[in-house]
Amino acid sequence: MSGISAFIEMSFSENRVYHHLEFERPVKISTMLPERSTESLTMSPATVAISEALPLLQHQYSAIRQLSETLCSPLEIEDYGIQSMADVSPPKWHLAHTTWFFETFLLCPFLKNYDVFHPKYSYLFNSYYEAVGSRHPRAQRGLLSRPTVAEVYQYRAYVDEAMRSLFSSVALSPEISALITLGLHHEQQHQELLLTDIKHIFATNPLRPAYRSAASKIALAPPTPALHFVEFSGGLQTIGHQQSGFAFDNESPAHRVYLQDFALASRLVTNGEYLEFIEASGYEKPEYWLSEGWVTVQTQQWNAPLYWEQIDGQWWEMTLMGMQPLNLAQPVCHVSLFEADAFANWCDRRLPTEAEWEIAAVRMPVAGNLLECDRLHPQPVTGSQPIEQIYGDVWEWTQSAYHPYPGFRPAAGAVGEYNGKFMCNQTVLRGGSCAPPPGHIRASYRNFFPAGTRWQFSGIRLAM
Ligand SMILES: [Fe+2]
Repeated sequence: MSGISAFIEMSFSENRVYHHLEFERPVKISTMLPERSTESLTMSPATVAISEALPLLQHQYSAIRQLSETLCSPLEIEDYGIQSMADVSPPKWHLAHTTWFFETFLLCPFLKNYDVFHPKYSYLFNSYYEAVGSRHPRAQRGLLSRPTVAEVYQYRAYVDEAMRSLFSSVALSPEISALITLGLHHEQQHQELLLTDIKHIFATNPLRPAYRSAASKIALAPPTPALHFVEFSGGLQTIGHQQSGFAFDNESPAHRVYLQDFALASRLVTNGEYLEFIEASGYEKPEYWLSEGWVTVQTQQWNAPLYWEQIDGQWWEMTLMGMQPLNLAQPVCHVSLFEADAFANWCDRRLPTEAEWEIAAVRMPVAGNLLECDRLHPQPVTGSQPIEQIYGDVWEWTQSAYHPYPGFRPAAGAVGEYNGKFMCNQTVLRGGSCAPPPGHIRASYRNFFPAGTRWQFSGIRLAM
C-alpha cells in the first residue's frame, strides 16, 4: 500500500478545524486484493491462536489461567472485593466466574464423578446464563466478603486440577475441545475486563492509586503526523469470520455487503485534537450531539473523557500507572459513542461502519499496542504506514448497531447465550485495545457496548 489519493490535513492549531485538500497522484487502495496471505498472521506473535489440538490446548489452558492470576498480582487484598459501579465486577469475582465457566460447561458434564467445589458457587458466579439457573444480582457482586480471596484461589486450583484430569482421562471430542477453547477465549475477555475494572476501581478512590509504577524510561515519540484520509474502493465485499481457527459466534456467518467508496483516517484521534473540541465548547453545543448523548452530557455533567481531571489549570489523566499529565500525542481514550460521534460531527467527518473498518483491516497484520506490549495505555503513533493503530491502543467506535449477521444462529445449549441475546441497543467497536491478551484479536472480532459506555479503552477513528 503506497498511494493516498486524497490528503486532507486537519489542523487543530486554532479552535476550529479546517481542511486543506491536495490531490497528488491520485491512487486508491483497492479492496479487491488477492486472497489474504496467512504468512503475516503466522509470523506475528500477536496472533498465536488458541489451538484445539492437544497438547497445545492443555499448555494454553495453563498459560491463560496463569495470566489471570499474574494480572492480579499487583493487587492488595483489599482491592479484590471492590465494585465501583454496576458495570464493574470485583477482581475476585472475575477470578471465580472464569473458573465457574470451566466447572459448569466442562467438568460437570464431562468429567466422571466430578464434585463441585461449593454447591452455592454457581449462584454466586453465574453471570447471565438463564439455562444454568438463578444468580446473584450483578450490581451486588461487591457485597460478597465471602468467599475470601484465598478461597477463590483455592477454587481455581481445585478446578485446574480437575481440568488436568479431564485432559488426561478422556479423548477430547471436538465438542469438548471447542468448549475448552471457548472457555479460554472467555477468560481472555475477562483479563481485559480485569484491567479496565481495576482502573475504574482505582480511579474511584480519591488517592488515585497506581496499579503499577510507570515505565522508568518514557520513550520520546516523534511528532504526531498530520491526520489524513486513505481512500478505499467500495463495491460488493465479504465480511465476517472466514479463516480457520476460533471466532465467536457473532462473527459468523461471513456474508456479502455493498459499500460505497469510503476513506478512513490514517491514525486515531489524539488527546490534543480532542482537547480542541473541548476548548471549542464542544460539550456545550447540542448541535453536535445525538439527542440521547446530549441528555447524557447534561445529566452526567460530562465535560471531558472519563478519567480526565483539570488540576490548577492543567489536564491530567488517570491511568493504570496512576495520575499522569495529559499526553496530547496519545490517542484519546475512555470516550463514549456519544462523544466519538459529537467529535466527528464537529470536524465534519463521521465514524466508520464496522464493514468499512473490517475491509480496511483484514489484510493488515494483527499487531499493535496490545497487552503483550505491556504499556497498559494507548501510545502515540510511531509508524509510517498509510493506516496506523488499526489494532491495539483503543477500541474504535463504529456507527454500526450490534445486530446478528444474516443467517446468524446461536450455538446450541447454554453457551448459545454467550452473544446472541445482547444484540439490541449496543454499538460495535473494532480493533482491540492496549488490554486484550495475545492471540485474542482478529479482523472480524466484534466488541459491543451501549452508547454511553466509557470505562473501556474506547477511542475514535474518523471516516468520510
Ligand atoms: Fe463471563
